[in-house]
Amino acid sequence: MALDPQCLSGRNAVVVGASSGINLGVAHRLGSLGAQIAIVSRSPDRIAAAADALRADGLDVTHHAGDVREATAMQAIMTEIADAKGPIDIVVSGAAGNFFVPAAKMSANAFKTVIDIDLIDTFNVLSAAYPHLKRPGAVLVNITAPQAERAMPMQAHACSAKAGIEMLTRCLALEWGVEGIRVNAVSPGPIADTEGLARLATDAELAKRIRDALALPRFGQLIDIGNAVAWLCSEAASFVTGTTINCDGGMRLGNLYAPG
Ligand code: HXC
Ligand code: NAP
Repeated sequence: MALDPQCLSGRNAVVVGASSGINLGVAHRLGSLGAQIAIVSRSPDRIAAAADALRADGLDVTHHAGDVREATAMQAIMTEIADAKGPIDIVVSGAAGNFFVPAAKMSANAFKTVIDIDLIDTFNVLSAAYPHLKRPGAVLVNITAPQAERAMPMQAHACSAKAGIEMLTRCLALEWGVEGIRVNAVSPGPIADTEGLARLATDAELAKRIRDALALPRFGQLIDIGNAVAWLCSEAASFVTGTTINCDGGMRLGNLYAPG
């Protein structure tokens, strides 16, 4: 079912981790459906360039630089956005860092770094937004990954962080639902032309193996994730909370008979 082209008209949306890749695609999709967008990430230059790209497509965008590992930085950004634009309708929390390293060679700080950027940040972002959320009606969407359920070698930190994000999603849905706040997650499979996939599929042969192991043997596109997030944010999903939408081509199914 196609989304109504104005289904997010006037909504005040914040997308965190949106200087590139999947989250930038989500910001573009929410903006194209009528939302006014605030994008957030760590690098001032990269987030400014992303905002310029969105504005070039006619979207209504502000940009804000801050490290998601710093709760006070997220609080200042959410306050700035709410002071300027009013109560926040939509928050997408998707900042992440990842690298592939066997657990036996992973330093304590390497494990902590990914937990901090992927999991602690989700708490920092959502709890910073909480005082400013529109009640009832706000929608929060966390970006997770198939690694939340499916163990992967060299991904002990990311698997643990994403599993934590999915449980945090359910806990906050339970606590905040009574205020009319919905909390969900979207789990992308491998998405073409992204940093995450480049780090996972380091050569063409590995990329082919990953693609052929999917139930739907193609890499996802940015618009696939943009549509999943937009649907969760729309009125069409008004009774949906505490769940993860697996937009992953079937990666979680774990195809034991994959070719190659
Ligand atoms: C082993 C590594 C490492 C590597 C870093 N470390 N890279 N260990 N192998 N390749 C260790 C460091 O030695 C250090 O530990 C600790 O991790 C912190 O490293 P820093 O460089 O100081 O961290 P920081 O500057 O904060 O950078 C974080 C980062 C970086 C994650 C390392 O790559 C980053 O900022 N990435 C953001 C973009 C990104 O990763 N995008 C992909 C997201 S995709 P010691 O002990 O030496 O101090 C994703 C899922 C994809 O999340 C799913 C696909 C299906
Ligand atoms: P990406 O382009 O590298 O985007 C990562 C974003 O996180 C960037 O905007 C980056 O900002 C931001 N970020 C990282 N560390 C930060 C910090 N400490 N503080 C603030 N912002 C920080 O990655 P991607 O591949 O599109 O992935 C986006 C999301 O999708 C992630 O949650 C990832 O786990 C998930 N995912 C991706 C795939 C895939 O195939 N790519 C699959 C499953 C799940 P700066 O540029 O400013 O550093």
